Amino acid sequence: MGKPITSIPSANILLSSLRSVGYTPETAIADIVDNSLSANASAITIEFDWQEQVIIISDNGDGMSEQELLKSMNIGSSDPLDSRSIHDLGRFGMGMKTASFSLGKKLTVLAKTGSIINNASWDLDYVRKEDKWQILVEDSSSTFIRQLSDRLSEYDNGTVVCISNIDKIISSDSANEKKKFYKMIENVKNHLSLVFHRFMESGKISIIVNGTPLSPWNPFIPDNNARQELEPEEVNENGHNVVIRPYVLPHKTKFANDDEVKAAGGYKDWLHNQGFYVYRNERLIIYGTWFGLFKKEMSFNLARIQLDIYSDSDFDWQIDIRASLKTPFEKKQLCTTSISSTSLGVRKHAFGRFPCSCHTYLFFL
Ligand SMILES: Nc1ncnc2c1ncn2[C@@H]1O[C@H](COP(=O)(O)OP(=O)(O)OP(=O)(O)O)[C@@H](O)[C@H]1O
Ligand SMILES: [Mg+2]
Repeated sequence: MGKPITSIPSANILLSSLRSVGYTPETAIADIVDNSLSANASAITIEFDWQEQVIIISDNGDGMSEQELLKSMNIGSSDPLDSRSIHDLGRFGMGMKTASFSLGKKLTVLAKTGSIINNASWDLDYVRKEDKWQILVEDSSSTFIRQLSDRLSEYDNGTVVCISNIDKIISSDSANEKKKFYKMIENVKNHLSLVFHRFMESGKISIIVNGTPLSPWNPFIPDNNARQELEPEEVNENGHNVVIRPYVLPHKTKFANDDEVKAAGGYKDWLHNQGFYVYRNERLIIYGTWFGLFKKEMSFNLARIQLDIYSDSDFDWQIDIRASLKTPFEKKQLCTTSISSTSLGVRKHAFGRFPCSCHTYLFFL
């Protein structure tokens, strides 16, 4: 072994770099909501405030003790190699910090257990000035902390994540920037309605955004009787279960009106939304993809395939920091095998029900 020399990164440089790990506002907010779910929250409230230039996510989950709160603010607060409960959507001990920094320069977290509320903040302007690995604890009587604490007044336990100085979202107060801000909120709502639809459908959680409760959006259109669910396939890989459920969606003639057809296409349209929907512990982590196996084509528009994995196979599937997938080659192969074994069924179902002259039905070659 060579001579060990300590090499500590600059807090300022590392935290600045972490601002660009590839989140969109939608994926960042979803990562923060993940934590609420992992903490058994049933009510999650999200506020986007143009005037104050803040984003606030509050929940009625388990909250954290003072010690847990301080630990949670660590960059890398837990070992990614640790095994986690099936309900835990986290892995890397990074999400809350990296997702917040991708939106703004200050992250303040308040955590309540019993009647005690603790707070801690990362302020990137302070870190830039001091270049030290230091979080800040504010006086609980300050107006800022009191106003955030109010969000927890009805809960015995809970957490508030406040992202302020949101320079990555708002760069000026122009009318155009304001329009972009409200468009971003719509994108976030659509994204959350999709990625957490199973939790909302089962009644486990409610998510309220700027006062409006979100409705789940199920990409497999379960309310339409013409939707066909094909034989599910269960594959056991290295002791980990993977469940694949292919669906053939109803043809547009099977919807009541054009609005329903449009809604079933999803907020990114039918073409974009065809393909695999990969759920990790029931949370959608990637959707509308053929993993590069096929090009998206109109003729596959009715094909959406649910694929369930669990956090015990994170390393097999190469889950990354943003809880998305790199999808290793052998996993793509697994999907291809499943596709080919179900494709005949899909073809039979599609053509069995509808005239062959319609070419909008799913077939795999
Ligand atoms: N809303 C919350 N309620 C209770 N605890 C929370 C909440 N948000 C974060 N935490 C605590 O903070 C820790 C750090 O969160 P963070 O998102 O940074 O990492 P993680 O969830 O462990 O992993 P990942 O990087 O994969 O998201 C969590 O493990 C959890 O213990
Ligand atoms: Mg997390």
